[in-house]
Formats: sequence, C-alpha cells, structure tokens
Amino acid sequence: MNDVSAAIQQQYQQLCQTIEQHNYNYHALNDPTISDAEFDKFFHELQQIEQRYPQLITSESPTQRVGAAPVKSFSQVIHSTPMLSLGNAFDEEEVAAFDRRVREGLEVECVDYTVEPKFDGLAVSLRYEKGVFVNGATRGDGNAGEDITHNLRTIKSIPLRLSAKNVPSLLEVRGEVLMLKADFINLNQQQRENNEKEFVNPRNAAAGSLRQLDPRITATRRLAFFAYGVGVHDDKNIPNDKHSHVMKYLASLYFPVAHECKTVKGLTSLLGYYQEIGALREQLPYDIDGVVYKVDSLTQQENLGFVARAPRFAIAHKFPAQEAITEVLEIDVQVGRTGALTPVARLRPVFVGGVTVTNATLHNADEIKRKDVMIGDTVIVRRAGDVIPEVVSVVMAQRSEHVKSFVMPEHCPVCGARAVRLLGETVARCTGGLFCPAQQKHAIMHFASRRALDIEGLGDKLIAQLVDHAIIKTPADLYKLGLTALANLDRMAEKSANNVVAAIEKSKNTTLARFIYALGIRNVGETTAKELARYFGRIDHLMNTNIEDLQQVSDVGPTVAKSITDFFAEPHNREVIEQLRASGVQWEENDGVQMLLAHDSEVNGKTFVLTGTLPNMTRDEAKQKIEDQGGKVTGSVSSKTDYIVAGADPGGKYDKAVKLGVNILDEAGLLSLLH
Ligand code: IVH
Repeated sequence: MNDVSAAIQQQYQQLCQTIEQHNYNYHALNDPTISDAEFDKFFHELQQIEQRYPQLITSESPTQRVGAAPVKSFSQVIHSTPMLSLGNAFDEEEVAAFDRRVREGLEVECVDYTVEPKFDGLAVSLRYEKGVFVNGATRGDGNAGEDITHNLRTIKSIPLRLSAKNVPSLLEVRGEVLMLKADFINLNQQQRENNEKEFVNPRNAAAGSLRQLDPRITATRRLAFFAYGVGVHDDKNIPNDKHSHVMKYLASLYFPVAHECKTVKGLTSLLGYYQEIGALREQLPYDIDGVVYKVDSLTQQENLGFVARAPRFAIAHKFPAQEAITEVLEIDVQVGRTGALTPVARLRPVFVGGVTVTNATLHNADEIKRKDVMIGDTVIVRRAGDVIPEVVSVVMAQRSEHVKSFVMPEHCPVCGARAVRLLGETVARCTGGLFCPAQQKHAIMHFASRRALDIEGLGDKLIAQLVDHAIIKTPADLYKLGLTALANLDRMAEKSANNVVAAIEKSKNTTLARFIYALGIRNVGETTAKELARYFGRIDHLMNTNIEDLQQVSDVGPTVAKSITDFFAEPHNREVIEQLRASGVQWEENDGVQMLLAHDSEVNGKTFVLTGTLPNMTRDEAKQKIEDQGGKVTGSVSSKTDYIVAGADPGGKYDKAVKLGVNILDEAGLLSLLH
C-alpha cells in the first residue's frame, strides 16, 4: 500500500471539506456557487486520491454517498430519548385552548413561541459521535425505529462530519426527510418512462426511497433533510436556553433548517403565522401539512412537560387535508375555450382542501387509461390551493365488479361536431370552432375576465344564459346588449342589469395588451400579450404580420407564432375585431418596438450584463431600456456577452468581462448606444 504523506492527507481533508461545502450550498441552500463541471472535477480528484490511497477512505467521505451494499433487513435502533409525536389543532379555537393551557401552566401573561412549517415527510434521528455521523433511524413506534444509516448517508444535505470549532462529543439531530416537489415530478416522469409504478405524493416517494434495502437505489432518489430539534446530547456548546437558539446552532453546523422559522409572541401571532404560511404553501419547494408552534424557552418547556406521547409545550396546527377518498359517480366530457374535450369525474361530494368537491378533472383519455379510472371506482382526489381538483389514483383494493369503463366520445357533446385528436396532441378537440356554443361561452368568459377586458358583474352563469338563449355569440355582441335583454333573464334584478350595462360600457377603454389577451388566441397568455403589444404597438400591425417577424418578440417561438397567424387568418376573428372597434372598444396605440428596430438599433439582438451601481438609473430601468430595443440582459458573463455595463463597485462579473475581452460600457456609453 502506498504511504500517505502529510501533504496528501491534508489535501484529501481539504477536498472532502470543499466537496461537502458545495453539497451544502447546492442541496441545503439551493444556491450553488460553482458549476456542475467544477464540482465533478473536485469529486474526480477525490476519487483518484482514494484509488491510490484506499486507507484514507472513511464512511464520511463524500464518495460514500453513492450507496453501500444492500442489506437483508433493517435492524432495530432503540432511541435514547423517545421520538414523540405532536398534538394537533384543526382550528383557531383549538390553538387558543393550547395557548391558554400553556399560559396557565406557566402562570404567565404571554408566551414566546418558535413557529415552524410542519414538514410532510418522515421523522428521523441522526446520531453524531465526536462529530461523525454514526447512525440514523426512523421514528418507528417512538421508542425503537429502524436503522437506515446507509440510506441516510446518501442524502447530500445530511452532514457526514460536523465542521465546527468545538464539535459535540454526542449529538442527536431530529428532523424530517422529504422529497422536494420538483424532484417528485421528475421521479414520477422517470417511473412512467420505465413503465414502473408512479408514487402518489412526495411523502410516499420519500418513504419508499428511504426504506429501500438497497442504498444504491436511495442514492438515485433525490431526498432532502430538514432539522427541527435535538435528541440526546452532552455538550456545553449546545444552547440550553431557547429552542430558537438550538435551531441557530444546528444551522451553524450546516444542518438545513426551514427559512420560515421565527419566534413570535402570543396567540394572535400564532394565527397570523398560520395564515402567512398557508398563503406561501403552494410556493414552498416541499409539501407541508401545517405549522408547528413550540414554546421557545427550554426551561418553560421542561416545566410544562408531557402528556402521554406528546409534549404540552408544542402543537401542530394542521391545514385542511389536500387529499380525500370518494367515489366516481359518472364521467362527463367538458368542452373548453379551445375546443379541448376534458373528461371530468362527477364525484360523491367530499370535503378536501377546505372545500366540498363534486368534480375532478381526469385531464384526457390517456390519463384515464394510465390511471385506469372507471365509473364506480373509489378514488383519491386531490385539491391543492387554487388548483383544479384532480383524480390522483384508484383504490384498486376497493374496485367492485360493477364498475364501467369510459369511452371518449367521437363527437362534441355540446355541438355534435366531430372531435379530432391531432398527431402529437394529448387532447381531442371539437372541430365546431366558434360555432360550438361551449366554445362561444368560454371565449366570451375569457374576454370578460378580470385580466382581459374586466367586465365586472358579467359572470360565467350570466354568459352561459345569454349564449343558451342565443342572445350573444361573440364578444362583439356584448356591446349590442340592451337593458331589456339582460333584465329578462332569470334571476336578474333591474339594478344588476344596469350595473352590467355600465360595466360593459366602461370596458370599452382598455389597453392593447389586455385586448390581445382577451382575444383568447391559443398559446397567448397575459405575458405574451404584453410583449406583443409592446413590440407591435398597433393591432393592425399584429394582424398583418408574419411568422418570422412574430418570432422577434421575446418568448414567441414557432408554435406561438403559428397560433397567432392561424387566428388572424380566420375571417370570422377579423370580423369580430372590426365589430369591437366599431362599437367603440379602444386603446392607445404607438409605433411599438418594431419601428425602433427598423431604425436598426445597435442594441437589437445583443446580449448585455449589468453590474455595479449606475449613477442615474436603477439596473431594472437599464434592463427595460435595453429590452425595449430588442437587447437581452443576462445574469452572467460568458463568451456570448456583447457588452457589460459597469457602474460603481462592480462585482466579479467585471473582472471576468475584462478577462474575456467583452466590450465595457458605463452608463453614458449605454445611453449613447441606445440613442
Ligand atoms: S417537533 C416533541 N417540528 O410531525 C416534538 N415535528 O406529529 C417533536 N414534524 O413525528 C416533533 N415538522 O415527523 C416537529 N417542525 C417540526 C415538524 C415536525 C414535521 C413531524 C415529525 C413528527 C410529527 C409529529
């Protein structure tokens, strides 16, 4: 065996540390500071050293995260302090009762609480001896869990060795293993491609990955870890005054902790936090099923003690469940704005995500087949935030022999026109176009919606009635609507009819961006509509443009461009636009960016990077000016950068630009280029 010099040993330690630091930046902070290639280089270097000097390899080397050999079964681990569960509160009264019990127990007026998200994953306990990760276990029954050390080692955000000045001789870290939503979506896509069973939700995916007997499989699944407390420990450096200090301490040891943790005072703040996190829930990268309130003072925690298996000093305030089980009574087909036929499951009403759900989308025929949903099946439905409820999966164990399969109709259920499914599309579409009443309704609903022409009081039900009575067929017909036609409708009081007429009148003054969006051109959302308005400035320019010119607009590719030209190639659409203009629908027009480009701006098509503080404009203003003339602003300097605009105190980007020989401009230089 080769002798290892002190220098090599030091280089080896250094490399391990560097790699673990980058693992932390990437997996815990989600903020990598080096490229994947640079990381791979470090890793390769480490592998080479280990190949030459295998005696250096320990279980905490970053190379050991790939997964050790499979085990036959998990062995048992007795927890040195039990892993408890939390009591639950489902409404504000139950939280108020918790706070009252705490205050009465402590004989104080007001209590400081640390508030945290409640991760929807699996509780684990990680044991560190002299700073080295030696053992990790599931919660199990709270007293004893399963030894999943090998699997936990593959999780890149779990430190294998603690790096701190004074590492504790013994420390148990408690926290949750979970799978990020994005990684869950990728995993399921892979499972689909490999014809393997998909996971129902990130929690199940995390559980399935963590309880693998073969750690090499776990290593291929991206799991995350968040710390929320400590178990046994024997060190004076570990804070013994406040839970919030313990959390800070854990963060200083490079354990991932939720950014959303904070310390607040009293009941009102607890309820405020619940609302705050509830609003953030959909944007969080991981699933949570509530928030946790913990008395912050550790002395107070000790004074309060425990009841049965849960602490008196903490409680979980749960969000309404996002998934529930119910029965598919029927499968109907709905026709959308673009004629897409969407199968919809009519459900036995079920309370999920905080509301009673009676319908859930089945997306399209392929999805029904893939999930094998039949009429009469027992299914899991999911309603997350404002997302349309969907059927997640069938509870096969409960399938009866009376279920009926569903066949997608060959004709539009509303207008009877043929339904066709184009090559490469997942949905079938009604070919009735704007002659199909369903499409008429949706087109008008979209036209009147808040982000389009914003006709207040003209709701979906009213529009449906107007179309069903053949009073209106197109958005242009709205501007011919009289008071009498409206007042004659069901449940329409004269006052509301007046309000609707006034709202229709008011909507005549709009913007070009809103108008373009309101037309409901396929693949043209609000942002694209804004870009189109900015670029063309006039509706006539947009109507008479071609596919090539359209693709000059940012974010417009061949598909979007074709949708736009197809839309304007349809005489009926042009007619409706003419009628709308004739009725007085108006907006301001200008020459658009297109004309500027025609004057051959030097900025058009060039890539810029902004760095440092400019004397007279913010970076956002500079960015807007550059984009207005067809330039692009990116965040990092590369050989593709045409110009770097540098203000005071430029960062590393400036040095890189100098190295690469990129043109350097100051604010004045940029302005002269723009003129
Ligand atoms: S503290 C003594 N904090 O919820 C209290 N638990 O019902 C120990 N959980 O098994 C738990 N997020 O898996 C705590 N921020 C958080 C949590 C959390 C999720 C889970 C944990 C525990 C369960 C208790």
